[in-house]
Amino acid sequence: MQALNGKVAVITGGGSGLGRELALSCAARAMKLVLGDVDEKGMQETVRLVEEAHAGTESATMRLDVSKLEQMQQFADLAKSRFGAAHVIFNNAGVSVGGPAWENTPHDWEWVMGVNLYGVVWGVKVFTPMLIEQNEGHIVNTASAAGWLNGPNMAIYNVSKHAVVALSETLALDLRDINANVGVTCLCPAFFPTGIHESARNRPADKAQTITPSETALKRAELTKQAVQKGKIQATDIAEMTLKAVEEDQFYVFPHRKIKQLIGLRAQAAADEKKAFDSLNPVQ
Ligand SMILES: NC(=O)c1ccc[n+]([C@@H]2O[C@H](COP(=O)([O-])OP(=O)(O)OC[C@H]3O[C@@H](n4cnc5c(N)ncnc54)[C@H](O)[C@@H]3O)[C@@H](O)[C@H]2O)c1
Repeated sequence: MQALNGKVAVITGGGSGLGRELALSCAARAMKLVLGDVDEKGMQETVRLVEEAHAGTESATMRLDVSKLEQMQQFADLAKSRFGAAHVIFNNAGVSVGGPAWENTPHDWEWVMGVNLYGVVWGVKVFTPMLIEQNEGHIVNTASAAGWLNGPNMAIYNVSKHAVVALSETLALDLRDINANVGVTCLCPAFFPTGIHESARNRPADKAQTITPSETALKRAELTKQAVQKGKIQATDIAEMTLKAVEEDQFYVFPHRKIKQLIGLRAQAAADEKKAFDSLNPVQ
């Protein structure tokens, strides 16, 4: 979509991190905003920042749990009733939990897969028909470098993000099959500073953590926290790259250039057939 001015941006996870920066980048292009998040205070802060930077931006917010299809439907209804349409859909909400796969609990799996995978699945299911019908629109799915490369201690997150890459690629092919004027972008960043390492702050009580993590899991979690906090590219820059990708109808976005090199090394490891590729320790 080349001209975003006046169009409607729908953003999940709009109350923090990348979702907030996407809202600011969209507002800078005079788009209208529909924000959804389980964190209502966070969303209000996003609206305040948007108003401060781009006074007069029209916005609507909804307390949204993306893992629930019926809530995603209400979210789409809100976009329709408030602005008459939805044009660029950012399926962005995401959470993370650590631990080796054998320690992860059913609640860990249900929570993270519910947000990271089903949140995107329901966003695609509900909004794509609207975009096809209006013959205009773009869907941005926030995957991750973890959709291509697996480091230790993040099995659930890695599985969820690989699935988001698969869903995004297939969606693009299915839209091509029907000649729809609907673009898709699959965003694949590596670590960058946001609140992702504190995802448990929004963990629902019915999916509460029920075990004490092992020492190894805690050590790895600390390394992940540091990697997030020390990320060199900022959410602001990633949001801008994403908006440019929408404007240029670009499918893959790898803000961290090194990731593409590592994907090549993973392909080489697969060709060698010997050892599992470790993205945190690629040369062994
Ligand atoms: N920060 C990184 O290092 C990094 C790297 C690659 C990909 N990502 C992805 O970027 C996206 C945005 O995350 P972030 O880094 O900005 O983290 P963040 O924690 O700052 O923001 C995530 C937002 O999602 C919201 N959220 C959580 N559960 C939700 C639910 N059930 N329904 C609706 N909203 C919910 C949170 O309240 C929060 O506002 C995620 O998909 C994440 O996996 C982040």
